[in-house]
This record gives sequence, structure tokens and C-alpha cells, in this order.
Amino acid sequence: MDFAIDAAAPAVPDCADDGTWLACIACDETFAPFEAVRYTCDECDGLLEVRYADPPTFDEFGTGASTDGPDRGVWRYREGLPFDLGVTLPEGDTPLHRVPRIKEAVGVDALRIKHEGMNPTGSFKDRGMTVGVRVAKELGVGALACASTGNTSAALAAYGGRGGMQTLVLLPEGKVAAGKIAQASLHGARILEVDGNFDACLDIVQELAARGEAYLLNSLNPFRLEGQKTIGFEILEEFYADYGVFPDRIVLPVGNAGNTSALYKGFRELVQSGALDPDEVPKLTGVQAEGAAPMVEAVEEGNDEIRRWEEVETRATAIRIGNPVNAPKALPGIRNTGGTAVAVSDPEITAAQRHLASEGVGVEPASAASLAGLKKLRREGVVDDDERVVCLTTGHLLKDPDAAYEAGGDPEPVPNDADAVVDHLHD
Ligand code: F0G
Repeated sequence: MDFAIDAAAPAVPDCADDGTWLACIACDETFAPFEAVRYTCDECDGLLEVRYADPPTFDEFGTGASTDGPDRGVWRYREGLPFDLGVTLPEGDTPLHRVPRIKEAVGVDALRIKHEGMNPTGSFKDRGMTVGVRVAKELGVGALACASTGNTSAALAAYGGRGGMQTLVLLPEGKVAAGKIAQASLHGARILEVDGNFDACLDIVQELAARGEAYLLNSLNPFRLEGQKTIGFEILEEFYADYGVFPDRIVLPVGNAGNTSALYKGFRELVQSGALDPDEVPKLTGVQAEGAAPMVEAVEEGNDEIRRWEEVETRATAIRIGNPVNAPKALPGIRNTGGTAVAVSDPEITAAQRHLASEGVGVEPASAASLAGLKKLRREGVVDDDERVVCLTTGHLLKDPDAAYEAGGDPEPVPNDADAVVDHLHD
């Protein structure tokens, strides 16, 4: 396998602030990190990335010894982050579940489930928000906004509230799971329901941010991805502790492709610091729902650009996205690690959700896409039986109670009488 991961640490530009700066991934223009609100490149509108003079090594990560604050969860990785501590609940430090029966059924050498649904608001978005809201404080902004399929809005509301800021969320009307709206509402966000899909919401909120209405905390914001890359750091450390090697492959659901970009960036930094060999980087393998699969289309057709899907549909509403804005970062991540992308049907997603639940791991539909994708790639022979795999599950079962109820069994009404209950059980 040819890896094309750039192992050279970047040269430090004059604009760097304490060894940190922003760089455009398209034209290499660089910017001071906190002098102004900026989401994309001033020169070419390309995506921005946070860069460091000293990329981290495993030895520099904290031990996790304290119970809160800077040595816990995401902030344990502060050597690889722009601050020492953010607005924290705290987040990260999620379980890497063993699922022996599912592993046997799938037929791989090792299978672990990294359950990001165990974060404070029930999804991986918390890892991004703890950094993003900290940056908002640095910039002195008082109002935060995002477009969301639900989880980002819940995390923005909780972290913004904790940071003492106003929060505004734009949601696609009728397409956000009940648990997520309940969270955004109770944590105090102003909720606008848009007559359009997520991509339309993102278009509008980008315009609001450009007009100075609020600070944008979608994954287009490069600082969000800094927090999310710690998922990759945790997976490598925890997996290595148990197996003495790193996983061959990480399979993850893809919506806006923020996580795919974030994991790739974290691994690249470890390669640049010399902590990881390029051929030890796990193959990033993205999974989308068949009804919303522009990344899969681009990977299969070998395109460098995404074709925006105007019509998208899937029961996995979290990934009901037709225009993955982080594709320019995520496509190289998939290609350069030797990974791939695959689309799965809604019934396959529900079957995987049931399968995970049968072994005690409760996830929302979008999360189950990762296992559904792994099963499909095993059936197709793309994933070998000797591979060691981690599936990322991104959100908790309770996020979408309706989907859980539909996928599970129905309660059975019985009379208020023990004999009748016994009779019912033996019927
Ligand atoms: N899984 C869940 C549960 C999500 O909520 C999302 C994205 C993804 C996967 C996809 O992650 O965008 O990094 O590829 N949810 C966003 C939101 C869009 O608004 O909550 P990605």
C-alpha cells in the first residue's frame, strides 16, 4: 500500500501565535489564529486548518490521573490543542467496547466499538465544542450559532450555556430526532426550524455569520476539528494498550465529513512528530446512508470534488447531508490512508443498530452505519478476516427514541394480576 501522508512538519510563519496558526489547505496562505473571526481563507475561500510548530507525541499526552480539569478527557491532549483548557463538562474518555459476539459474526481478528455517545450531551460533538467555545471566548464573541441535524445543536446549546453565551440553532424542519431538539431547547438555545434540509440551514447560518450575527460553530470552523481529533488519539492509545499494535482500520459514519478530516489530521500530526509511522495510520473508512452518499460517489468515481446532492433521505437523520463541506480535507484522508467509503441501506443500518444493542451498546441510527458498513465491506471482501477494526459510534440511543422504539420490540399490555401475567408469559 502506498501512503502519501506528508511527514514533514510545516515551517512556522511569522503570524504564528505561541506556535499556533491557521493555514489554508488550498493555497497555503497563513493567518494569525485569534486576531479576527475567520472561517475560510481570505484569499481563495479554501478550508482552514490549525497548525502547530510542535506536533504532539504520545509521551506528551497527559496521564488521565486527575478526575477533572486539564488532565481529563479531551484536555489530556492539550499538547496537541490550541489551549490548555476549554469550557469543559468534561468530555472525551469514552469507552472502547469489546463486542465478542459481533466480532465473531463479522469475522475479523479484532473489533472494538468506540462509543462517542457516552460524551456529556451524548455525541462526539462535545469534543469539538469544548475547544470551539473556548476560541469564541478568546475572540470575545457573545453569540454562537450552528446549522444542525441535531447533535451539534445539543452540544452548542450546552457548551454555549456553560460559557455564558447566547446560542442560536437552525434545524431542518421535521427531520431532527426528538432527544436532540429537547436538549437544545432545555439548554437554552433559540431554535429556528427551516423549511429545507441541513445543507440549506448551513448556507443560511454561514450568511448570518458573515454578517456578524453570531460566531459559527459548525465543523467548517477549524477549531472544532481540533477537539474531535482527540477521538483518534484515544483510539490509538487504548487499542495499543490492549493489543500492542494500532488498529488496521477505523470505520466511521460520514455526514459533513468533519470527523474523517479530524482523525486524519490528528494522525498526520503524530506522523509529523515521529510518534507514528505512516504505515501505522489506520485506514479511514467512511460510511454513508444510500440516500445521502455524495462522499461515497466521489470515492467510487475517483473525483476530487463532491457533487452536491439536492435530494437526500435516510432514517439516520444525523447524516442526512448532501453537501459534505469538509470533503476537501476528508477525501485525502480516506485516499492517503488506503481507506474507502461505502453506502448502506436504512434496513442495514437498523439491523446493525439492533446487533449493537443486543450486546449492550445503545446507539442512534447514524452511529450504527459504521457497523453496517463494516459488515458490507466484509461481505464484499474489501475488509479481510485478519484485520483489527474499530467502529466509531457517534451518538447515544436516547438521541432518537422514535428510531429505537421502531427498531425494538413492542411492549405487551397485561392485566394487573400475577396469574394473568404468568398465563400471558406461557401463552
Ligand atoms: N454521526 C452522528 C450521530 C452525527 O450527529 C453526525 C453529524 C455524524 C455522524 C457525521 O459526522 O459530519 O463529522 O461526518 N451531525 C451534524 C449535526 C451534522 O448537525 O449534528 P461528520
